[in-house]
Amino acid sequence: MPTSATPEPVIRQIVEAMRALAGPHPGFRPVHAKGLVCSGTFRASADAPRVTRAPHFAGQSVPTIVRFANANGNPDVHDGVPNVRSMAVKFQLSDGKSADILANSVEGFIARTPAELLEFLRAQLPEPGSGRPDPDAVPRFLAGHPAGRAFVERLMKKPVPASYAQTIYHAEHAFRFTAVDGTSRFGRYRFVPHAGEAFLSPDDAGKRSPSFLREELEGRLRTGPVAFRLLLQLAEAGDPTDDVTALWPEGRPVVELGRLEVTGLSPTSAADERSLIFDPTNRTDGIDLSADPILLARSAAYAISYDRRSKGE
Ligand code: HEM
Repeated sequence: MPTSATPEPVIRQIVEAMRALAGPHPGFRPVHAKGLVCSGTFRASADAPRVTRAPHFAGQSVPTIVRFANANGNPDVHDGVPNVRSMAVKFQLSDGKSADILANSVEGFIARTPAELLEFLRAQLPEPGSGRPDPDAVPRFLAGHPAGRAFVERLMKKPVPASYAQTIYHAEHAFRFTAVDGTSRFGRYRFVPHAGEAFLSPDDAGKRSPSFLREELEGRLRTGPVAFRLLLQLAEAGDPTDDVTALWPEGRPVVELGRLEVTGLSPTSAADERSLIFDPTNRTDGIDLSADPILLARSAAYAISYDRRSKGE
């Protein structure tokens, strides 16, 4: 199994930079801080076992916990502020274990390596001399990292979803899937909303209520479940599997792995999100990690972050 080549101090510095940018919000995540927790059900398609022998893709109904969030580090951010939105799904397996998929509303990522991510975060921090961020630092980073710039451009085409139920969520990294017959292939997950995609301009979104995404989802769930198709985009020979910023061509084959139905908001959402931890490396037999350095650094980052927030820091 690939292991992270990123030194632990670098991962710690990334979490510290995220916490510094977010400002003091004890008990909250330093990114994806404003969220809500829902319950749901997943049922795999008949095609899923041909791709992976993972137990949650065998076909029976699997209970899930789903957390939607805004990638911003401020738990009170206005829902109209342009940013990545996220959906984290925890499949609750019959043996008491779980498997997670973490997915974002913009395809790809800002950085190819943890060192690049640290550079991007530090570009936004105040400089010791002036006490303010250097206004040229982020443009300079983007000019030197075309894949990061392309990510920001994709974000600005879909700045604010009209609903948590109306944007595609990408799990970004390649994972290696092994079927019952032993065949393996790389794939990338995406959740595609049944309701279709819909976005707002930042101007229109800014005029809505500060928590309109939560209120909209609550209203929608009162009329029935919110459904997503879970798709897997399959790699072809030569497609990069260790670079989260390199998208595969849209024409790659896609397998439908199943259907997720979000059924209701948790009545204890605020308490749930404090105790919950999602981790993209939390998986089962039939799903392996790729050698993507960002993927391999994430588990340690999430553990450090969980430790800090669960101590109320
Ligand atoms: C080295 C790269 C990354 C680092 C260091 C990082 C760091 C973090 C941290 C510290 C948290 C808060 C964790 C917690 O307190 O529970 C978080 C949450 C999250 N991250 Fe990342 N992240 C990285 C890359 C990514 C990528 C590529 C994605 C794309 C899917 C992503 C998606 C998410 C999501 C969806 C959450 C919220 C999970 C939840 O709802 O609890 N992150 N990240």
